[in-house]
Amino acid sequence: MFQPSEDEIQSLVAQMTMAEKVDLLSGRGLWKTASIERLGIPSIVMTDGAYGVRYSTTQIDAGDNDEDSLRAFLELVGQQGDGSDGMFGATRPATCFPNGNLLGCSWDIDLAYRMGAALAAECQDFDVHLLLGPGINIRRTPLAGRAYEYYSEDPVISGDIAAAVISGLQDHGVGASLKHFACNNSEIERTTTSSDVDERALREIYLAGFERAIEKSAPWTVMSAYNPLNGIQAAEHHWLLRTVLREEWGYDGLVVSDWHAIKDRGAALNAGTELDMPESQPRKARLHATIDAGDVAPEIIDAACAQVLAFVRKCKMHERRDTAADLDAHHALSREMAAESIVLLRNEDKALPLDAGCLCELLVVGDGAVTPVIQGSGSATTNPYRVDSPFVQIAARAKDGFKVRHLPFSATAQVDTAASIKAIVEAASHADVIVVFAENEKSRHGEGNDRDTLKLAASHDALITALAGVGRKLVVVLSMPDTVEMPWIADVDAVLASFYAGQGGGEALARIMFGEQNPCGKLSASMPARMQDIPGWHTYPGEHGRHVYSESIFVGYRFYDLKAIAPAFPFGHGLSYTTFAYEAIDLDQREIGTDAHCTVRVTVRNSGSVAGKEVVQLYVRPVAPGLKRPIRELKSFAKVDLQPGEAKTVSFMLTQRDFRYFDTSRSAWVLDAEAFVIEAAASSRDIRLSATLPCRPEAVPPPVITPNSPTAVVFAHPKAVAALVHFFVATLSISSAEATSLLAKTKGSFLGFYDTLSWYVGDSLKESDIADVFAQLNDDYSRA
Ligand code: BGC
Repeated sequence: MFQPSEDEIQSLVAQMTMAEKVDLLSGRGLWKTASIERLGIPSIVMTDGAYGVRYSTTQIDAGDNDEDSLRAFLELVGQQGDGSDGMFGATRPATCFPNGNLLGCSWDIDLAYRMGAALAAECQDFDVHLLLGPGINIRRTPLAGRAYEYYSEDPVISGDIAAAVISGLQDHGVGASLKHFACNNSEIERTTTSSDVDERALREIYLAGFERAIEKSAPWTVMSAYNPLNGIQAAEHHWLLRTVLREEWGYDGLVVSDWHAIKDRGAALNAGTELDMPESQPRKARLHATIDAGDVAPEIIDAACAQVLAFVRKCKMHERRDTAADLDAHHALSREMAAESIVLLRNEDKALPLDAGCLCELLVVGDGAVTPVIQGSGSATTNPYRVDSPFVQIAARAKDGFKVRHLPFSATAQVDTAASIKAIVEAASHADVIVVFAENEKSRHGEGNDRDTLKLAASHDALITALAGVGRKLVVVLSMPDTVEMPWIADVDAVLASFYAGQGGGEALARIMFGEQNPCGKLSASMPARMQDIPGWHTYPGEHGRHVYSESIFVGYRFYDLKAIAPAFPFGHGLSYTTFAYEAIDLDQREIGTDAHCTVRVTVRNSGSVAGKEVVQLYVRPVAPGLKRPIRELKSFAKVDLQPGEAKTVSFMLTQRDFRYFDTSRSAWVLDAEAFVIEAAASSRDIRLSATLPCRPEAVPPPVITPNSPTAVVFAHPKAVAALVHFFVATLSISSAEATSLLAKTKGSFLGFYDTLSWYVGDSLKESDIADVFAQLNDDYSRA
């Protein structure tokens, strides 16, 4: 057992040679840290990923670095497939849970925690100490190749779900790696394109989810990202990793690089990326040279080694070698998770649930019904130990006299699309209900590739349109990494968004279709009507190596609200087989000041006839804020389970931060608005109840003034007039009335104050004199 005390860790570091230190900071092979037998330091094992354990026996068991490891790694992350084509090679079967894109729609913290615990059991079973997830990059654009791994376009859901997954893992002895820190939101030239993001958007959107997750769950590791952020590689970003992560947030775990992300090892170490993964002989050699040149201080090397040792100690202390994962139980959990997350987007005339008793014939169309796309492709791809077929699950629910047929239809290779569609339409004319399994266009997607379209596979749009003309009940099931355009939406009866539902998705879908499960997922990212509506579309994906996040803080629903654009389906939307009445909202505060919290209580009743769960969303809408802000922002949520007729009251605690914006001119979170409207909502576009909370804003210092400030800005300063009159009297030997009327002459000029003043006083007053007066005023306020 490796359990050194803090002092023993320091002593181990003191005994290490420089070569051993460089080894320890550089990993061993693709998936381990280095062991140092001489000092009794063991190695630990890590692997991907966020929704399933991908344990490669060839890469992990085979051991140390070899020439092929780079190729093996590149093939893995660059794969274009969902694992159904035999690419798993020697990967151990494990549970493939719903991917982040679907788990986000659960809005269910408990479920996320249970997935974390199950992943921990599988890691313990495989002797893995650290799982490389969850990833919570904001789904800024649905085109992002890795959108499928991530939870949301909003930092509150991202942070809370991640915290639950991390706690589930770590409470059961397996470390998590919260990734990719930060702003790895696109796959296009992902290691070189700089994400150029203004600080307010960083603070309020892109870093906020990380901050929230770290505060709630203290992940053992944070993984720095591939991309540069505002021109500096994330792994080498001093402000990001030291100022924000360590100093402001107090993070005390290990920072690990993304795989081969580090370009300048010395710079990365100085900035705070302690562990360089995976092992790279060239980078090790370069680090030696950097150290020899004196470019990394010995204290930084030693502190990083101590950090790695503390992490190894944590891993070894929590190791549970005798764990046997219960894969059947995990399969049941994956089904439950999918069933609790799939989103019923549309349900005209109660098309769903289907009534097995009265159906005569159900036609199921599409290859996805028998070989479902259950996950995305890339480093997260898991070898599912078992996969539910939606068709088998649907057929299993057929009652006497009920006929279920399946017709294949591929998302890629149709021999003759027109002929296939014609034959399916012909068969459909005899069916009572048609269920089509549709998929997104497959040309580019997954890790390493952003999509270049939001379209379905072209033949799928044509198929759905043709089937809509048959006049039978038509249900569409969508499997996709993130949203797709649905040109046929008004012509179909029901749509289920299953995203990437994991290995239990087939059973979950069948349960929802037949009403054994009431759908209760809600969208965790907006679905724009068309690709051109995506926020920041006009600057995506950047040029000349820079990607300006031009929409700033207006990401996702914040943008659609601001621009009054109707999305196809808004953030937070999801239908149920029952209805919910929002009956009361009440606040425990009569106003919000700089030190108070506010508890909000919302009463919701199940006003329909079947049991169901409602995701109650709490938004805060500032009235007359000091800076331009999103119209409303999600601040909290709760999933409530209600029997027919039952009502429950849920409480939400709004903290100071929930009311504040980040003011970059003051580098602070500021409370400044006339009031806040607290909204209880069924979606971001379905506000059911609201209550107004007046605000007692904090005193905001006046803007800094200079001789070039417009005169209106100078006059708005509460002390400027008095100070200037006093100064004119003393310097120009005039009366106070004369000074006042001199000052009045400058009023109304949009030019700089000194430019205007000097018109009347020539050079009897110098610009530097006015600068001194103003500096004193500015100083008074910054001291106050
Ligand atoms: C990905 C990480 C992953 C790592 C190891 C990288 O390409 O960005 O998310 O954990 O590979 O597979």
